Amino acid sequence: MWYQRDNLTREAVYETCTLEQTHHVSEVCSFCGAHTLKPELLQGDAVEVVRTLDDSSIQTVVTSPPYWALRDYGDENQFGAEPTVEEYAANLVRLFEEIKPKLKDDGTVWLNIGDSYAGFSGNTGGATGSDRRGTRNTKVNKTGANIKARDLIGVPWVAAFALREAGWYLRCDIVWHKPNPIPESVRNRPTRSHEFIFLLSKNQQYYYDMDAIREPLISKPSKKYNKKGERMIVGDPTKGKNSRDVWTIAPKAIRNSHIAVFPPELPKKCILAGSKPGDIVLDPFSGSGTTCRVARELGRKGIGIELSEDYHKLAMELTFQGNTSLEDFS
Ligand SMILES: C[S@@+](CC[C@H](N)C(=O)[O-])C[C@H]1O[C@@H](n2cnc3c(N)ncnc32)[C@H](O)[C@@H]1O
Repeated sequence: MWYQRDNLTREAVYETCTLEQTHHVSEVCSFCGAHTLKPELLQGDAVEVVRTLDDSSIQTVVTSPPYWALRDYGDENQFGAEPTVEEYAANLVRLFEEIKPKLKDDGTVWLNIGDSYAGFSGNTGGATGSDRRGTRNTKVNKTGANIKARDLIGVPWVAAFALREAGWYLRCDIVWHKPNPIPESVRNRPTRSHEFIFLLSKNQQYYYDMDAIREPLISKPSKKYNKKGERMIVGDPTKGKNSRDVWTIAPKAIRNSHIAVFPPELPKKCILAGSKPGDIVLDPFSGSGTTCRVARELGRKGIGIELSEDYHKLAMELTFQGNTSLEDFS
């Protein structure tokens, strides 16, 4: 049971389960009797479905939208098929404006976005990551006013700055370092082996559990002092050092499916730092449902939204029939 794994007593769980009963409740939480921790996988356009969620109900959002202009999933509501990168960013802003009132005041967003190179359909330099589903998008000419063929577009930063301009606090750019990236046939630049995960918050103050994702100490705790004479270490150093902003995590794939998925370790870190047991975690681009399954493992309730019927079915199977078979990407 998750509460035993987390060394939480039943009483502690009661304390953390403070959610009101919502219209999403389909099964009552056996610990608190108030809400369910069963993941909820919803099919539809994220913008529309998010509107049906309860206000101030979500503690944290962990998600990865489709790459811009890489794949055509054949649905007019799909994200990623916008004619320009600015429109892609604007569409994300539009979705996150719908999410804002659903997020608690101390809520956060962990947003993983992949980059790509300018030119038609990602074939002048390739996509830098792993979204391998759908057909190659040949409709979008990935150049623009200031973007020449072969330029790295900087998609994550265009989106991050647009969100910041829309009022989100841009708190951290975490580098997801991939030790086994997809090989690229390039001879004139290094092989791309990272993506970004942005930590954004709704307000200046927000929930963040630094202890939940501390890293092991490899050297003795710092004895340095700041100008005020305070020791430059936050919290109890015996618990490890504050998480660094580079996370090395091998990408995973689901066997025989060609679907790009989060390696579970990635949403795990975001969920642990961004929420408490009993909280609700949202993934508006849930794909195969990884975020929701990891949330369940950690005693949180996951809500996933997925546009594609095929992906939705896959997520239901993996989540409720439990047959996940992951393999390294490369
Ligand atoms: C990069 S994948 C997410 C993969 C996911 N992190 C996982 O672990 O399986 C992005 C997903 O967004 C979905 N998507 C695209 N447009 C959408 C929309 N308007 N609403 C909801 N989902 C959408 C795509 O079908 C795709 O499954």
